[in-house]
Amino acid sequence: MDQNILERVNPVFNTAKMTVFQLASTGEKDAAAIAERLNLTFEETQNSASSKASPEQMNTSLIMLETRWRTSSAIALQTGCKTLVDLPCGYTPRAKDFAQKGIAYYGLDLPAAIAEAEPAILSLIDEDQRPLVHFCGVDATNGESLRAALKDTEGPLCITTEGLLMYFNDSEVGALCDNIRMLLSEHGGCWVTSDPETTFQYLMTLQPIAGDRFMEVMAKNKSMVQDKSDVSVGKSALIVSPRGDAAENMKNAMKFLAAHGLKAERMILSEYMPDINSLSKVTPEQAEAIRQNMHKCAYWKITTMDKSVAVDSADLSSESFDVQANVANETLNLSLKGRVDTLTAPNLLALYERIKAEYTLRAVAIDCGELAYISSAGLRVLLIMKKGSPDGVRLTGINATVREILAQTGFDSILDGAVSLLGSVIEKTLVKPTFLYYIFSVKFIKEGS
Ligand SMILES: C[S@@+](CC[C@H](N)C(=O)[O-])C[C@H]1O[C@@H](n2cnc3c(N)ncnc32)[C@H](O)[C@@H]1O
Repeated sequence: MDQNILERVNPVFNTAKMTVFQLASTGEKDAAAIAERLNLTFEETQNSASSKASPEQMNTSLIMLETRWRTSSAIALQTGCKTLVDLPCGYTPRAKDFAQKGIAYYGLDLPAAIAEAEPAILSLIDEDQRPLVHFCGVDATNGESLRAALKDTEGPLCITTEGLLMYFNDSEVGALCDNIRMLLSEHGGCWVTSDPETTFQYLMTLQPIAGDRFMEVMAKNKSMVQDKSDVSVGKSALIVSPRGDAAENMKNAMKFLAAHGLKAERMILSEYMPDINSLSKVTPEQAEAIRQNMHKCAYWKITTMDKSVAVDSADLSSESFDVQANVANETLNLSLKGRVDTLTAPNLLALYERIKAEYTLRAVAIDCGELAYISSAGLRVLLIMKKGSPDGVRLTGINATVREILAQTGFDSILDGAVSLLGSVIEKTLVKPTFLYYIFSVKFIKEGS
């Protein structure tokens, strides 16, 4: 396909020319060889229609980019995975470093970038190491393209993502998370990304260099990157904004991940960051301030939440009631024992609220094999769970007594997977409290008699 047509559809791969030129400017020889082979120039890669890169902007970008490049590699190596998936790989020479270490390298990017990157990068790699290096054109939002590109890999994958999430909107970043989760579930491994806290890292690098002018320089840099990618940069739910309540923004980004079955560990940058050549381009005081600021920045090591997590519920047990809980695949699995009545239902609700605050839940599955009795108080807790679970509440192993209670109160419609009816039965009872009172009274009168 004509490169010009590909560029008009999605010019974002031009941002990778900007970054490889910056890496070359830090003294990285292989990046310089690639930049030369692609005839990249300062004017073409650093300036844009709207702005010219200032020296302070350029120094910040070099330090930021070199830190990202070297630290991501250091974290990827530390994972011990023997296959690296560089998504998106852009034009950087990472393939060479990893192949030299005997690690299989998969460089994935848009077809337009791969068409130019693959020959330039392969030309740097020794003949005997080439079998370890693979390039493939993909769209990161297209799961099948990723699955096909990685079908011949062996063992767990370390997927690195640098400079991608800021170009995606929420739906694209959601699709990427689902795809990565699918890959990690199928192959094992982890996803290392610098992107969620990239704005912080830029700010923390720029601030010692630009002093009071840092907000102005930051805005200029953003508009330049936007020009090159032709999208509004940095708006997705996984990019943590330093504006407003940053801690809350971070929590929301983590929640977004959890909603896609992923969880992140923050890898503090300063703990993994090797020597950075381009820090020599600023004063020693500025370099030291930047190094100190890197204690506050992190890359995220992301893994799936597939494993079941047992939840401690010992403090909520009593003589007549016990509950075991674990969370797996966004489902809360409960095992109830004894009676759930007015005395014990608060414990069940407290446990549910505690778990709900910590995990994303889509469904609740309740094993009632050892549940002897459930009163209206217990049924109200089921109703609360149903309201908070988009995929419903499922009960199994119900004994005859409990089955009769559920049938009398209309809750039997949730049995054996017929969950969807629960909503309507319960809505009715909610809008008509007297009806609810009536059905529960009938049950109590019956039991009392
Ligand atoms: C800023 S560059 C980063 C490249 C490389 N990681 C680096 O640090 O130089 C952004 C890259 O994202 C790639 N990209 C954008 N949208 C993509 C998509 N939907 N699927 C795969 N790659 C994409 C672009 O082609 C470009 O190479």
